[in-house]
Amino acid sequence: MTRKLFVTTALPYANAAFHIGHIMEYIQADIWVRFQRMQRDGAAAREVHFVGADDTHGTPIMIAAEKEGITPQQFVANIAAGRAQYLDGFHIAFDNWYSTDSPENVDLSQSIYRKLRDTGLIVTKTVDRFFDPVKGMFLADRNIKGECPKCGAKNQYGDNCEVCGAAYQPTDLVNPFSVFTNATPVMKPSEQYFFKLSDPRCFEFLKSWLNTPGRLQPEMVNKVSEWLGEAGEKLADWDISRDAPYFGIPIPDAPGKFFYVWMDAPVGYLASLKNYCDKQGLDFDALLNDPATEQIHFIGKDIVSFHLLFWPAMLKFAGHPVIDKLKVNVHGFLTVNNEKMSKSRGTGISPLRYLDLGMNPEWLRYYIAFKLNSKVEDLDFNGDDFVARVNSDLIGKYVNIASRCAGFIAKRFDGKLASVLSEGAQSWINRALTVDVNGVIVERQASIAAHFENREFGKALREIMEIADITNQYVDENKPWILAKDADKTAELHDVCTTALILFRQLTILLSPVLPGVAKNVASFLNDAEFSWADTQVFGDAVSNSMLGRTIGAYSHLMTRMDAKMIEALFDAPQAAAAIAAPAPDAANDGAAPATTAAAIEELAPEIKIDDFLKVDLRIAKIVNCELVDGSDKLLRLTLDAGEGRLRNVFSGIRSAYQPEELIGKLTVLVANLAPRKMKFGISEGMVMAASAADEKANPGIYILNPWPGAEPGMRIR
Ligand code: MSP
Ligand code: ZN
Repeated sequence: MTRKLFVTTALPYANAAFHIGHIMEYIQADIWVRFQRMQRDGAAAREVHFVGADDTHGTPIMIAAEKEGITPQQFVANIAAGRAQYLDGFHIAFDNWYSTDSPENVDLSQSIYRKLRDTGLIVTKTVDRFFDPVKGMFLADRNIKGECPKCGAKNQYGDNCEVCGAAYQPTDLVNPFSVFTNATPVMKPSEQYFFKLSDPRCFEFLKSWLNTPGRLQPEMVNKVSEWLGEAGEKLADWDISRDAPYFGIPIPDAPGKFFYVWMDAPVGYLASLKNYCDKQGLDFDALLNDPATEQIHFIGKDIVSFHLLFWPAMLKFAGHPVIDKLKVNVHGFLTVNNEKMSKSRGTGISPLRYLDLGMNPEWLRYYIAFKLNSKVEDLDFNGDDFVARVNSDLIGKYVNIASRCAGFIAKRFDGKLASVLSEGAQSWINRALTVDVNGVIVERQASIAAHFENREFGKALREIMEIADITNQYVDENKPWILAKDADKTAELHDVCTTALILFRQLTILLSPVLPGVAKNVASFLNDAEFSWADTQVFGDAVSNSMLGRTIGAYSHLMTRMDAKMIEALFDAPQAAAAIAAPAPDAANDGAAPATTAAAIEELAPEIKIDDFLKVDLRIAKIVNCELVDGSDKLLRLTLDAGEGRLRNVFSGIRSAYQPEELIGKLTVLVANLAPRKMKFGISEGMVMAASAADEKANPGIYILNPWPGAEPGMRIR
């Protein structure tokens, strides 16, 4: 029976571009999916449907759109338009990328809700909520601001503090006010809809679902068991409604009420699958009802409660057919040089910058895979370690085999591999591809396959590198470059190079879930059609037979060494990178003649006194976010933290010079006391400083200022 795998990654919030943590999650899932897709034959065959979508609903996105003066639909469309460059760039092959703001999601969410209501699992309760007495409406968490109860920062939203990171209830805010009217909100009873997780049926179900062997990672079983309590006494009902205005899906038969974003977000998995099925002419219901179908979610450790309590319970009681085959794979967080990444600080490495620097995406795929296991452990990206790992394994061990042997086949044997192998060569092949386990010879590919299946990618790669080590040992011992000098050794040279390339092909097939681009190039160089996992099976001599006597193409360079300088550039400010690329200053210039002639620079402004200068308040600001501005090809929208306990929105005409991604997390200089200016796209609260030439036509460069390390947001420049 062909296993049918419906695989997803968490649906990213449509309020920002991808960061490297997202890319890590997608790489993990993509490797697993590609491994499954390679199982094409016979009993092992698998049919895979790998889908994603943007998570679009909720108040933060509604507010962000409002700030830009566009509709939330336009806002999320802008974000969606930026996704492909990341996914394609890192060779992440989703079958479909969709949106939770879609007709399919409305239908599916409402239909799941109706089924839950029919089984008696929806209850209403009257709860006190903040209400704006001037505007006459209930206020969502993000419609209320006030002072952080923890650090006292002013102007913080009702759900969490952007300064100290604390999470709290809107009712915890000190001096709360409505963002619409500045009025002090009052408490008013409001009827809300709850999913009745406290119902004994939920506990009974979750307990058995959770404890099904092989379903969840052991640490997750423990964690969720704690949440359930001995007899479900810890399970509280879940508020799934929000009051208008809300960017979301209306709750049926409940005017003015919308599903809380976390209610419709996971339904987006199904919506994307449905949309994909419709496009492919597949029968969505038949697929879900097929007993061969399994549903697998890859998610990070921060969203476990939504995926291991609410979501399975929702699916179960809405009669979702795949519930018994629902699996959730949880991963830890990616840190960068042991620093936690934060959504607002945006530290770490920018995926787009990585690609812009021309770094090979498969280096990162390999490194992440090498560090991944099946546990919920954090994984650190360390620059030096990255360079060392990639250069030693991929270049020094793997690519090296082909680059040392392929040339001889082309030059000396007309591109044709030997048609028979010596006994010695065959025994090296066996030695490389099998291993003796307590006196039984087993194929290495079987344990490598098990590691891929179980998401033990690091173990899989270590074992693959053992094969590479043995192969290199074989080449080192037989020295084709010496054999090539002796006319009597031509047959031996043929034998050795053929053997090395047979093993190189095996290594490539085993590595192809991780290095799909390289594998494709190798396949074309070796005149192979698409690789399949069955090609890794050694017993029965299939391995060498398929290669013997084969004519192969010309070897072209597969992958370059990584230059450690690239890593510096990856972390560097873009300006610094530009400086390295710029021509060195004229060495003959001893200061007597100005480097640039007077005519070339703009005329100086009239002289001012120090008091004039002090009127301008210049501050160090951190660019916590940066986005394209829909409808403008000149502007970027910057979100700046100038240490004031609030964030500023600033538009800057630097779009031609920078990708938003490059600027996130960087410090710059802000004219902080400039009167706010209302622009077509929203209000600009200040100005960032950038250098440009007088003659913009001749010299169009724009260079944003970047302080030396050590400067902190809020420091004054004088
Ligand atoms: N929108 C929700 C998910 C809804 S799923 C129905 C969300 N979005 S997110 O953009 O914040 O995160 C998306 C995924 O990225 C989550 O699985 C999250 O755990 C993961 N990661 C966020 N930061 C990460 C790292 N630093 N490292 C690895 N994964 C990270 O949550
Ligand atoms: Zn705070």
